[in-house]
Amino acid sequence: MPKLISSPNSALSGRVRVPGDKSISHRALMLSALAVGRSEIRGLLEGEDVLATATAMRAMGATINRLGAGHYEVFGVGVGGLVSPDDVIDMGNSGTSTRLLLGLIASHDITVTMTGDASLRSRPMDRVTVPLQDLGAEFSAREGRYLPLTIKGTPRPLVLDYSPPMASAQVKSAVLLAGLNTPGRTIVREKVATRDHSERMLTAMGADIRVNDEEGVRVVSIEGQPELSPIQVDVPGDISSTAFLLAAASMVPGSDITVKNVGLNPLRTGIIGALTAMGADIEVEDQTVLGGEPVGTLRVRAAALTAVSDLAVDPSTMIDEFPVLFCAAAVAEGVSRFTGLEELRVKESDRLAAMAQGLAANGVQVEELPDGLVIHGAGGRVPGGGSVETHLDHRIAMSFSVLGQMAKAPVTIDDASPIQTSFPGFTELMTGLGAGLKT
Ligand code: S3P
Repeated sequence: MPKLISSPNSALSGRVRVPGDKSISHRALMLSALAVGRSEIRGLLEGEDVLATATAMRAMGATINRLGAGHYEVFGVGVGGLVSPDDVIDMGNSGTSTRLLLGLIASHDITVTMTGDASLRSRPMDRVTVPLQDLGAEFSAREGRYLPLTIKGTPRPLVLDYSPPMASAQVKSAVLLAGLNTPGRTIVREKVATRDHSERMLTAMGADIRVNDEEGVRVVSIEGQPELSPIQVDVPGDISSTAFLLAAASMVPGSDITVKNVGLNPLRTGIIGALTAMGADIEVEDQTVLGGEPVGTLRVRAAALTAVSDLAVDPSTMIDEFPVLFCAAAVAEGVSRFTGLEELRVKESDRLAAMAQGLAANGVQVEELPDGLVIHGAGGRVPGGGSVETHLDHRIAMSFSVLGQMAKAPVTIDDASPIQTSFPGFTELMTGLGAGLKT
């Protein structure tokens, strides 16, 4: 396992771009694979998770050609045109690939067996298999809810009207994607709005998607069996990857960095509000809309951070950014209390436990709650000197790489390899800005 050692080097400075948005990249591949004709994608994230989606779509009949760095063409099979792969599909570390594809497959008359790495095999799939069973798909999963699993899609899918019990864009998207090949109107009712990349892209491809607010519930519906037009997608930079840069530049004294072409979908930008509430100095410049998604440039300068309360953080607009926000809280002045975050326990790792262990190992006073963390900020550099277990979780690895920039003794990350799932080039980009990271 390649170790990563993080320690302060210099203030961070420079202008950079981060790799393409992971959520949009997955959807661009899946949906263009169902269009009729040739789609073109630029800026696709070439991380392992998205490449797993490409492999799966190829195995189910789509033609996907790499034309250059992040530049792909996709010849779709049309809604209803997926075929059974001739082997097990390995989804690697990617929960988004697995859950969204289970939705797509559920309303196709095909059979697919999926597996993944140890992290993915420990993540619950019943959150999508339960609603998709009602549509008529059949599942055989390890212990009823884990990979490896086999899905047998149905040739006669029934429309669903589903209210997910948890806030999850993956569950919403799985049901909507199942609705693509289901005659009639499939409905998802969200108590808490989640990222709407699926809705935006499907609308751009000509699907009949409606979004209504019914007494505070976001009701999304899709009319089945559309002919999807091919698309040209320019994938913006991933705000969830940018989050590591925002936190690092805010924390390290004297820093001043600019990140260009960042996706600023309002259901993703909670990290900007949360860091700003802690005193961060983040300016949003050059806002525009690219392919139906808002994008802009972010300039971040170092600032004295203070503790953040629950109220300042809107969990409907951020989820994957909490680990690095916890690191910012560890160097902030005062006690931060985060609650209502039980979903973090079913990510690539149990992120509450992994963060609590890693912070404690580096001398940060932290209390783990069933649904959150209480973090006693050091008001500057944390002691550091500890070793962090990443548990196959890219965001744990990158979060502690950031914390090490504000540690008195180096922070050791036991395994840097998971970073490849979402942020290829992370170490080089960070060291280019001035961070102290050694493999
Ligand atoms: C994602 C949704 C989120 C997020 C994940 C990507 C998506 O998961 O954590 O990294 O692309 O829809 P949940 O739906 O489980 O919150």
